[in-house]
Formats: sequence, C-alpha cells, structure tokens
Amino acid sequence: MQRLLPGEGIFPVTANSRSVETNQLGPHAQLEKTVRRHLAHPFLKPIADHTRQAFLLAQDRIASTNARPIILDSCCGTGDSSRTLAAQNPSRWVVGVDKSASRLNRERQDEPLENLIFLRADLNDFYRLASAAGWQLERHYILYPNPWPKSVHMGRRWHGSSVFPDIVKLGGVLELRSNWKLYLEEFQIALEIAGHKGGLKSFEPESFLTLFEKKFHESGQPLWRMVAKLS
Ligand SMILES: C[S@@+](CC[C@H](N)C(=O)[O-])C[C@H]1O[C@@H](n2cnc3c(N)ncnc32)[C@H](O)[C@@H]1O
Repeated sequence: MQRLLPGEGIFPVTANSRSVETNQLGPHAQLEKTVRRHLAHPFLKPIADHTRQAFLLAQDRIASTNARPIILDSCCGTGDSSRTLAAQNPSRWVVGVDKSASRLNRERQDEPLENLIFLRADLNDFYRLASAAGWQLERHYILYPNPWPKSVHMGRRWHGSSVFPDIVKLGGVLELRSNWKLYLEEFQIALEIAGHKGGLKSFEPESFLTLFEKKFHESGQPLWRMVAKLS
C-alpha cells in the first residue's frame, strides 16, 4: 500500500537516511547531574523578541474563542503532523512551533484549518513563556527532535537543556518519537528525576505523521515512541 503525506509530491523524500551514530555507549554520564542542576536553577537567558511576539499572537488567537484544550506540536518542521492533528481534533487548538521559517513556509495546497496556529519561534524561549503564562497542555508532541548524538552536545538535547523543567511544567500527555532509542531512554531518565514515569516502545507506523518518520521507516530504521502522562 502506498502511503502519502500532504505535500509529498512537492517535496519528495528519499529513503536512504543513515541511522544515528554516537560516541556514547549508554545514557550520558552527566545526565542526572545536568537535569538536577536545571531543575534547581531557573533559566535566565533573555527571551528573544520574535518569539515573544509569536507567543503573544498565539495567546490572543486562543483567547479570541471559547476555551479549547491545546495540543502543542514542538519542532513541527514542515507542519505535516500539525495539519493532521488539527484535522483529527477540530475541537482543540493545535499549535505547531518551529524555528525554521523555510520549513514552516513550504507551500501547501490544502486549505488553512481554523484551529491550527503555526509559529516561527525558538522553543527555548517559547516553553518558558508558555509555562510562565500557565499553559497546561492536553497533549504535547516532540516528533523526531534533532538528536545531537555527540556526547559533548548532550546539553542541546531537550532533556539536557536548561528549559527541560518548563517542558515538564507544561503537562499533558507528552509523546516523543525518534529513530534513536538512546535519546528517548535519556528523556525517560530525565523525567524520572523530575518525578514522572514514561513508557518507551518501538512501533510500526500505520500512517506517517511526519516526513522524517516516513524517511526513517522507509530506510529500514526502527522507530521508538516515549509517552508520559505529566498531568
Ligand atoms: C529533525 S527535524 C523534525 C521535524 C518534524 N518534526 C518531522 O518529524 O518531520 C527537527 C526540527 O526541530 C526544529 N528545531 C530545532 N531546535 C528548535 C528550537 N530551539 N526551536 C524551534 N524549533 C527547533 C528544526 O528547525 C527542525 O525543523
């Protein structure tokens, strides 16, 4: 059976993606110390103006209708997953966030959905703004985040970043997917340190939520999913 994503004809995907190579043999030796440090100390880096404006835009739009639960699609890339989630959940707001304007702006033929908001924003700032504003998500997807597989870059993975406590505070059912199991194992450990339990399993996609999912699957790579109920 042939499975297509919206826009696939415009941006063909080649299925020759290499699996993640890392110099780590297991979870990073500094993971626990790093997570505990971030949980104990607020992240004080100034918020960039463009992300503040993007956040306020989303706040206004969300406030302009009757209250609806929010599904956040972090690192949404070209936004295919956000479109699918918005179509499947017409009574929810779906907020797709990515820092790359070129990915977000890729032309799409489909009609804009009334419950879908796309934002170009840096999630290092967006997460802090949303948690400070008291956002409580219904669901939160982080699908195929950049792996940063070199040991020295562990601090760039979401669970090793200073903003990790805000990701946890946003609550909801959090789902991460990756072709790199170790990323999700580390995230699971970080969540445990923060007092939450996540379940990690491999899965066979029945349909593809994102272009990366399709690319990795068709390259023969196993896919992994970590789900945690944070509130
Ligand atoms: C590997 S791509 C995955 C995209 C999409 N989820 C998919 O599966 O097709 C990772 C995405 O994360 C975005 N990203 C990385 N760091 C980010 C940040 N700090 N704020 C917002 N987006 C970020 C990148 O621009 C990129 O689009």
